[in-house]
Amino acid sequence: MCGIVGYVGGQSALDVVVEGLRRLEYRGYDSAGVALLADGKLATDKKAGKLANLESSLAESPLPAATTGIGHTRWATHGGPTDRNAHPHLDCTGSVAVIHNGIIENFALLRAELEGRGHQMSSDTDTEVVAHLLEEETRGNGEAVDLADAMRRVCRRLEGSFTLVATHVDAPELVVGARRNSPLVAGRGNGENFLASDVAAFITHTREAVELGQDQVVEVTAKSITVTDFDGNPGESREYHVEWDLSAAEKGGYDYFMLKEIDEQPQAVADTMLGRLGADGRLHLDEMRLSDDDLRAVDKIIVIACGTAFHAGLVAKYAIEHWTRIPCEVELASEFRYRDPVLTRSTLIVAISQSGETMDTLMALRHAREQQARVLAICNTNGSTIPRESDAVLYTHAGPEVAVASTKGYLTQIVACFLVGLYLAQVRGTKFGDEIRAVVDDLRGMPAKISDVLASMDPVRALGRELRDATSVLFLGRHVGYPTALEGALKLKELAYMHAEGFAAGELKHGPIALIEDGVPVIAVVPSPRGRGVLHDKVVSNLQEVRARGARTIVIAEEGDTAVEPYADTVIRIPQSPTLLQPLLSTVPLQVFACEMADARGHDVDQPRNLAKSVTVE
Ligand code: F6R
Repeated sequence: MCGIVGYVGGQSALDVVVEGLRRLEYRGYDSAGVALLADGKLATDKKAGKLANLESSLAESPLPAATTGIGHTRWATHGGPTDRNAHPHLDCTGSVAVIHNGIIENFALLRAELEGRGHQMSSDTDTEVVAHLLEEETRGNGEAVDLADAMRRVCRRLEGSFTLVATHVDAPELVVGARRNSPLVAGRGNGENFLASDVAAFITHTREAVELGQDQVVEVTAKSITVTDFDGNPGESREYHVEWDLSAAEKGGYDYFMLKEIDEQPQAVADTMLGRLGADGRLHLDEMRLSDDDLRAVDKIIVIACGTAFHAGLVAKYAIEHWTRIPCEVELASEFRYRDPVLTRSTLIVAISQSGETMDTLMALRHAREQQARVLAICNTNGSTIPRESDAVLYTHAGPEVAVASTKGYLTQIVACFLVGLYLAQVRGTKFGDEIRAVVDDLRGMPAKISDVLASMDPVRALGRELRDATSVLFLGRHVGYPTALEGALKLKELAYMHAEGFAAGELKHGPIALIEDGVPVIAVVPSPRGRGVLHDKVVSNLQEVRARGARTIVIAEEGDTAVEPYADTVIRIPQSPTLLQPLLSTVPLQVFACEMADARGHDVDQPRNLAKSVTVE
């Protein structure tokens, strides 16, 4: 997610802020900007692209010296990665500068209200509304500007998740921050203080940090850090000493980015749903750019993607066909155009890509568009090539994924596919409103359930270490458990460099069962015994078959499913969920298992050999 730095003290604010932004580069970003408070004026500069672009611009047109400033690296969500969408954003009078991480869910409404009151917007971002709201809240009535109070009043009107940091020309030597569901930490220095999205930004200046609680506002001057809640009551904050070195700080204290990204999944899943599931149980995919008439005309869906994204597509097929009754195929993007697929204007291509730059997927979508098909991209990288070349886009809000192996990217792709399926069902009337509402309610409950899975991973880690010398691991699943098995095997191959294969459990007896011999680890993903009981019983039978031939069986099963116990050497429990949503839970132990096994085998988890994060060749 976006990087945030704020500074008040005796040093050059520009130097401190730019250095802090450099320390946050690991988070990934697509533009950068700064605002300095100098001589009662705001001086800003912002540029799309790398920090180096901003630095050359600053070298060409230096900003005045200042000791108060804020800086931002942006990971685009609302509005492409351009100079004008880069932060900071200013109000109409150029008096207040704001930077932001997160998503302001009700920004469209606020923007319309502000425009109705005569405000001129100069970006496509959700962030800019905050600058204009602060302008209204600090408008001169002869009294000194109370920026913190204005921020509290603005925050009370915002929905969604946000970290905000602002500075105002009439409140010199002050930076004000606020947070809800998004990180913000203050750094306590000697005659200087800091604000940042994580401690890596100021760790070279101070190791004394103040962690802010939920829904809090913080006022930072060179001498003080004052925390309140959104109503102005004194806020509780936690002071602590940062023990991490810089490299650990960048990874939030984790050994690998992948571990951090696995743990970020509840938030990433919640963020991907944010603003899209209405309180009325209806879906609002405002940014989709395909009309309801276009969607009603669709008679076939083809999902194209590669690797992990392809597995998300396999899950999508089950959900989309079930909810919409539109035939849905899933195809490896690298194969798609070479088989001369039958495409018409009524074919909807869903191109899934975390990076938005995968060449195989891009070439497949270009081929589809040449044949008049419409393309909807599901993508995590705003402004990347695949969404740019598509007719419509639904962004996942996983934030930057640094580890090469995709984890939070995958879960959020599945969520986005569910949103597309439900939206189609809503528009085409293939599901009743209360049926859609029931799925929406289940989806809303998933982040908490993913957190529960994450909290119980110690036995999975122990298993990864115990099985480190295995020569092969097999994965079984049926229905949506089948793509989960494929994904578990892919993770193990790419991270542990171990032979691993995922099978549709029913396919075993048609050949792969010959691979089973004494001690071979077999990981089976067992569907819920509730709902589709037949599916459950079939997987349990397959489990018996491999166990009878000597396999070491590791079973991922719902809490309360005792039927698996006689056939399982190890049971990994996940919370109960509807079958279609189960991959959001059952994938998590497989990610943790692969990560742990790779580490136990001495591999670089974040940068597996021979692999690249963005595969830009066919
Ligand atoms: C596996 C992995 C790859 C990607 C694939 C597609 O962990 O990360 O298999 O899923 O290269 O990448 P995107 O989603 O960027 O198109």
